[in-house]
Amino acid sequence: MRIRRKPWARPEIAACPFCVQNPCEFKGKWKSIFKNSQLPLHIELGCGKGGFVSKSAILNPDINYIAIDIKPEMLALAKRKTEEAFKAQERSVDNVRLFVYNIDKIDEVFDKNDTAERIYINFCNPWPRNTHKKRRLTYHRYLMKYREFLNGEIWFKTDDDDLFKESLKYFEQTGFEVTYKTYDLHSTDFTQSVVTEHEKMFVEMGKSIKFLIAKPVDITYEQYQKNIEYRSENK
Ligand SMILES: C[S@@+](CC[C@H](N)C(=O)[O-])C[C@H]1O[C@@H](n2cnc3c(N)ncnc32)[C@H](O)[C@@H]1O
Repeated sequence: MRIRRKPWARPEIAACPFCVQNPCEFKGKWKSIFKNSQLPLHIELGCGKGGFVSKSAILNPDINYIAIDIKPEMLALAKRKTEEAFKAQERSVDNVRLFVYNIDKIDEVFDKNDTAERIYINFCNPWPRNTHKKRRLTYHRYLMKYREFLNGEIWFKTDDDDLFKESLKYFEQTGFEVTYKTYDLHSTDFTQSVVTEHEKMFVEMGKSIKFLIAKPVDITYEQYQKNIEYRSENK
């Protein structure tokens, strides 16, 4: 997504009390960063303008949220949206943390001690060209990294048919069980997933939203062999 340069983005993130400047320092101890460290932890990957995390955190004060984006310009918008949402409720931002990071290196910021109960991947870039598919946030090498700190489910939404179809395969090959799936989320009675900025845009364009929930299970020998191949391919 193209986004205009925002010279205010980095200084605003640097001054923000709920934006984390050095995320690697919290590896293995993310839960302790929150006012209530006992709450479940949900992580959104590629949060964009922050509509999803800000609304989710207001609706669920009993869940701690971390949202990550690679672009400071995006994260700064997410920061503003979060501030506005909490201000409207006269609440301090105690269950949200945001930071700029490349998900490619997610293993530098989370490990098995962080135990996220849920990971959200909302409308990640579909990367349709064969040579670019490795960059999809649902690609094998990413799912293998998420497994390290996930103790729950991945919720994945997209408008893209090919990305969804191929992601189903990636999940299966990396030892995930898909426990829920729909090719048209908005025609179901599943209402627990907050609508994101991209989702709103795609729905207005008449596109159907594909959605799945997947949880890690034991990997079979065959799946494990595939993982080894993918790992060595992607070193
Ligand atoms: C298509 S937008 C979707 C934004 C939002 N989730 C939504 O549904 O409206 C994808 C977002 O993922 C971010 N992103 C893409 N690749 C990333 C990566 N490797 N690490 C972190 N964020 C990434 C982009 O900067 C962008 O904000």
